[in-house]
Amino acid sequence: MRQKIIAGNWKMNGTVPWTEELIRELLASNSNNERVKVVVCPPFTSLYVAAKLLEGSHIALGAQDMSQHESGAYTGEVAADMLLTVGVKYVILGHSERRQYHAEDDKLVNAKAKAALSAGLTPIICVGETIEQREAGQTEKIVGAQVDGTLAGLSANLITKSVLAYEPVWAIGTGKTATPEMAQAVHKFIRQRVAKVDSQAAETLPILYGGSVKPGNAHDLLTQPDIDGALVGGASLKATDFVGIINAV
Ligand code: PGA
Repeated sequence: MRQKIIAGNWKMNGTVPWTEELIRELLASNSNNERVKVVVCPPFTSLYVAAKLLEGSHIALGAQDMSQHESGAYTGEVAADMLLTVGVKYVILGHSERRQYHAEDDKLVNAKAKAALSAGLTPIICVGETIEQREAGQTEKIVGAQVDGTLAGLSANLITKSVLAYEPVWAIGTGKTATPEMAQAVHKFIRQRVAKVDSQAAETLPILYGGSVKPGNAHDLLTQPDIDGALVGGASLKATDFVGIINAV
């Protein structure tokens, strides 16, 4: 059985007081579903306070990005070690917004994934095609290259310690979700692609879907055989919506 994961990507939302409030709400509500690992990924400035509140709870902490470097003269960057000291366990890497606004490519994401894994963090590596690429029939070509590029050089053992997230760019924050069948087809394709490296690692690798996941569409997405959870943006900012998605597993 693959680990099911529901991860909330808060993006650039949440001051410290706002973080405290949302986490208190999550802990006070029905957010503990034994079938699923719950992760929240607040902005860097909220990680410390979030970690304090989440200590000993069922909710794990993730960051939204990290540097591929260990330390040094990299102004504005945050290293894996720093994330570990505040209790972070997961880190989102290669999100399409990082790719779009910060020119991150597969090679950089691959270097970050290697740095995360060697520090003992679980990377949530994001892939996904744009609407132009989908309409041009290039979804498998693009996503396949992203999977190959971001996982390049990782042993089967390290792949089993990673998480992938398929997030079609056109579905992120747009209210347009891939249909469960469309998403399942790409998830299956991704798993087959990973199986070319190692079939057992491909079987155990959690592949999350992301892009306008809401309580109302979560069940149909999450019951697809190759969809192992969700990476949730907008709906993770409201406790009732996020809890609804957690309980759709
Ligand atoms: P969304 O974002 O749920 O708001 O579409 C998902 C993501 O970007 O991870």
